[in-house]
Amino acid sequence: MKVTIFGSGYVGLVTGACLADVGNDVVCVDIDQDKIDMLNNGEVPIFEPGLEQLVQRNAEAGRLTFTTDIGRGVSHGLFQFIAVGTPPDEDGSADLQYVLAVARSIGEHMDDYKVIVDKSTVPVGTADRVREQVRQALAGRGLEALEYDVVSNPEFLKEGDAIDDFMKPDRIVVGTDNPRTTELLRALYAPFNRSHDRLIAMDIRSAELTKYAANAMLATKISFMNELANIAERVGADIEQVRIGIGSDPRIGYHFIYPGIGYGGSCFPKDVQALERSAREHGYEARILAAVEAVNYSQKEVLFEKIRAHYDGDLQGRTIALWGLSFKPNTDDMREAPSRVLMEALWQAGARVRAYDPEAMDETHRIYGERPDLVLCESPEQALDGADALTVATEWKVFRSPDFDRIRSALTEPVIFDGRNLYDPRFLHSRGFVHYAIGRPG
Ligand SMILES: NC(=O)c1ccc[n+]([C@@H]2O[C@H](COP(=O)([O-])OP(=O)(O)OC[C@H]3O[C@@H](n4cnc5c(N)ncnc54)[C@H](O)[C@@H]3O)[C@@H](O)[C@H]2O)c1
Repeated sequence: MKVTIFGSGYVGLVTGACLADVGNDVVCVDIDQDKIDMLNNGEVPIFEPGLEQLVQRNAEAGRLTFTTDIGRGVSHGLFQFIAVGTPPDEDGSADLQYVLAVARSIGEHMDDYKVIVDKSTVPVGTADRVREQVRQALAGRGLEALEYDVVSNPEFLKEGDAIDDFMKPDRIVVGTDNPRTTELLRALYAPFNRSHDRLIAMDIRSAELTKYAANAMLATKISFMNELANIAERVGADIEQVRIGIGSDPRIGYHFIYPGIGYGGSCFPKDVQALERSAREHGYEARILAAVEAVNYSQKEVLFEKIRAHYDGDLQGRTIALWGLSFKPNTDDMREAPSRVLMEALWQAGARVRAYDPEAMDETHRIYGERPDLVLCESPEQALDGADALTVATEWKVFRSPDFDRIRSALTEPVIFDGRNLYDPRFLHSRGFVHYAIGRPG
């Protein structure tokens, strides 16, 4: 089948590459010329495990092409996927300018029936606005009679596991008001839907809300555990014991109840905010969502507060080694990453940072550039050299079982601020470390 994808970011590129890999003819359109040039040179601008090989294989086979030519994109696909960003507007609501711009472009160029598939995460009612943009653009060309459908098909992939999630989805949500489009989407997704039917067809508004509901539920679990961690710390309990104690209840489960230094990334923060703003616009105060956000905001400062308290409020001239910069492991994405809040607070307090991340070094350099209080290191060990303490902000596998003797001898003082509860406090204490974790006895 012929597919066009607007937006070659995490979602668009993975969607395009996976659809091409099962034999579809896919054109990816982006307005970022540098990104398209890189992709046409066989380079993938983001780090996502397995993506580079998938893109290269399908590009070489001629099933996956990249262009900035919108007209070519629109005329190519029966399916026109919209997978562009929906960043937060100034008031926290989803900024739909990119989604609506694509809708307009489709209306300005289409000459035959199209299925317009909204894959971006968008507030309820966006499909109506997409439909209206297309209608207006067609009317401007005197083509009011041209048929098209608009479908909501939210994406649930996780960065770091994106290809597996797309290839073996838990569910494929399709929101339509026309059974014909459900069947077209069912056919497109059939290769990913073989073992049992995972396509859930529903009305468009429910599909749009389903995506926000999923992210808001996951964010709530994280903030809930972080709140409990803060309570555990104050009452002398160990949140890791509590986690295992509650996770054993199948109604709760072990997934997504790890305490830490807050959630980040391009989705949870903006989606919780956007849902809360959208509820408010409809006259409803979403109090749980507001609390989830507020807890997350302050949780990102918890590790810095521990560092500051350890040094009696004086961080001037201190050097802190920081392991982990991406908002979670297996990605180079630093959008809303807790490491950024931590680094910025350290700099503000007069400390220097020696940082290492397995994938996010270029992204960190892109964001912060050269500055005297940031040294980007080539290995976890190099980050320790001459540092006063080690902090861990992302639970990359490579940080899980380090050489503690080496850490102790490299640091001026054996102190670890463990923002992801990676290390066993008793073991570290027995090795002479001062160990601060989240919601655990000190
Ligand atoms: N990143 C995730 O893990 C994830 C998961 C599920 C859903 N989503 C949602 O998917 C959407 C895309 O997210 P992302 O992380 O892939 O974004 P991204 O920022 O990585 O990529 C968006 C791309 O769209 C391009 N773009 C902007 N306007 C365009 C236009 N008019 N035509 C063509 N391309 C255009 C940008 O240049 C950019 O390359 C968002 O709504 C996001 O909330 C993201």
